[in-house]
Amino acid sequence: MPSFSSGASPQKQQHNARRKQLIRQQRKSLPIASVKKRLVEEVKKNDTLIVVGETGSGKTTQLPQFLYDAGFCQDGKVIGITQPRRVAAVTVAKRVAEECNDQLGKKVGYSIRFDDSTSNATRIKYMTDGLLLREALLDPLLSKYSVIVVDEAHERTVHTDVLLGLLKKVQRSRSICADKNGKTSSDRQDHSQSSTLKACQGIKYAPLKLIIMSASLDAKCFSDYFGGAKAVHIQGRQYPVDTLYTYQPESDYLDATLVTIFQIHLEEGPGDILAFLTGQEEIESLERLIQERARQLPPDSTKIWTTPIYSSLPSEQQMNAFKPAQAGARKVVLATNIAETSVTIPGIKYVIDPGMVKARAYNPVTGMESLIIIPVSKAQALQRSGRAGREGPGKCFRLFQECEFDKLAESTVPEIKRCNLSNVVLQLKALGIDDIIGFDFMEKPSRTSILKSLEQLILLGALTDDYKLSDPVGKQMARLPLDPMYSKALIVSNEFKCLEEMLIVVSMLSVESIFFTPREKLEEARAARKSFESSEGDHITLVNVYRAALECLEKSKSANAKEKTMEKALNRWCWENFINYRSLRHARDVHSQIQGHVQQMGLYVSSCGDDMVQFRRCLTAAFFLNAAMRQPDGSFRALATGQSVQMHPSSVLFRTKPDCVIFNELVRTTQNYVKNLSRIDPLWLAELAPQYYATED
Ligand code: CDP
Ligand code: MG
Repeated sequence: MPSFSSGASPQKQQHNARRKQLIRQQRKSLPIASVKKRLVEEVKKNDTLIVVGETGSGKTTQLPQFLYDAGFCQDGKVIGITQPRRVAAVTVAKRVAEECNDQLGKKVGYSIRFDDSTSNATRIKYMTDGLLLREALLDPLLSKYSVIVVDEAHERTVHTDVLLGLLKKVQRSRSICADKNGKTSSDRQDHSQSSTLKACQGIKYAPLKLIIMSASLDAKCFSDYFGGAKAVHIQGRQYPVDTLYTYQPESDYLDATLVTIFQIHLEEGPGDILAFLTGQEEIESLERLIQERARQLPPDSTKIWTTPIYSSLPSEQQMNAFKPAQAGARKVVLATNIAETSVTIPGIKYVIDPGMVKARAYNPVTGMESLIIIPVSKAQALQRSGRAGREGPGKCFRLFQECEFDKLAESTVPEIKRCNLSNVVLQLKALGIDDIIGFDFMEKPSRTSILKSLEQLILLGALTDDYKLSDPVGKQMARLPLDPMYSKALIVSNEFKCLEEMLIVVSMLSVESIFFTPREKLEEARAARKSFESSEGDHITLVNVYRAALECLEKSKSANAKEKTMEKALNRWCWENFINYRSLRHARDVHSQIQGHVQQMGLYVSSCGDDMVQFRRCLTAAFFLNAAMRQPDGSFRALATGQSVQMHPSSVLFRTKPDCVIFNELVRTTQNYVKNLSRIDPLWLAELAPQYYATED
């Protein structure tokens, strides 16, 4: 008799059955499971609910399923759950799909910028808060959602804050629409109500349920904002975490992290390590140092497996951090603050926290945004140590003294108070919200910041002189998921017939560290870079790298190589040329996504060929707000702000120091450094940006 197989081997089937049972048990034992009924009742009773519960209590994975079971997805309605971070949206969606015994993208899916895994069947949808904001552009009443859960609200990203304001407004509009005739209880209809009624188009909407969720949030402040909304507390299940401090201050936290990793590895029992660093460059250099030192361990000792996770790493590589280490190896996850909240990284027992974070900072007077490395807040330090107690008791090594902890700020300043608001203002304008200063922000950004952004948007042509969204430029800019200055660059380059080059530049600038410069091979790395270098500046150098990489792919394609082999060849090429393969891959992803957008907008992707003057003129027309002139002492003066800035040593123009440059990034360490520069003719400024530079005579 022939034997039939279901596709999976008997061992695999057995493994799957065991895993299913384990998940069922795990779910039942979560603290949130015992309050299921009460939570559902509260959501039914209250339009807005605040849910606070320790990490690991089951909020993110369970609550949406409870609401689904309680019928909140009837008539095809969707439960949307926002996350401040892409990686959280993806991993949680995968987990919940597995819990539901379903394929990802069916009942449970996720949607993040540049990656959508939902279908018409999706009812529980995890997404980034930024993505929901974009959806509101197309559907102002968010009509397909019955419930929106704003998760990890304590993080207070700029998107969360804007979203909260918007959701409050949507909730009000939907309740107006809920009444068939549009008669509200007071029977008064002001101007905004009548425009809402138009948006209802006679459809009777159910009210929008809103749930604000977090492990560590100031419930009162959220409750006040939502008119005294009710807060529910869930008792958590967090294992004890033993927190240790250093006796002395550490002068070099990178070195201290390295030493601590090996100390744990040699002296502590089994369990994986999670170390928090500030960015890709730090992570990559530490990764190399660990690997070097690990080679000196005795041959029979436990191996170390390092795996990085940071936001610009392609998703599938981020996922490596979630895989278990092989038998006989210890996993060391090197992460930025993206692993600080929401995610569960299996195996972690030890956390190393140097106490620093890279954050956005903004000077509203000059309108300049920059990145700086600053101490974390107490709330962040607690979240970080909490990562050690997700699966069992753990230890957290803080690489600073206990007295320093007491000096940390209680919580992180909401991002909306320390970033350039041009993007926010443009989004709100596109959502039809005209009065930005009067908008009901949970915490209002300063008037100066708002005015500065309005001014910048007028200069970029996104707004008219009377602060209305311009047509077509402003509308087109709002559709692109980019910083307004980059969106403008793409639109301008269409006129200059060099959209092909600008697309590459914008994609390459969207990722961190294209060049890979190991300390021990400085000279070789410099020599390799020479072949891409353009004396015109860093932008054209980036275009050269991108095109050389495409050529490498083309070569293996013409040899009929499969995609995997092509990627391998590119990886090798990157290695030989000291290019960061991860960053380049990310840039290619971003490129293909933005290309889709610009083509939809009807822009034509043409190239200026060898005419680099044309391209530099285009860069000037796009980035005129970031122009700088050389001073007699060799430093530069940013024209828009009067700030004194230095050229970053990584620029190809560092040695030549031309008279006038445009730049794309300001980094503040001990000095102000500008990065990503191109040489321009100062006369072009008045010619190409007369709205800003033309003298009145
Ligand atoms: O949101 P909250 O921190 O309350 O918990 P959750 O993310 O819903 O996770 C609840 C539990 O599910 C965790 O403690 C893990 O045991 C498990 N979980 C997991 O194993 N893998 C995931 N990707 C997410 C959660
Ligand atoms: Mg959670």
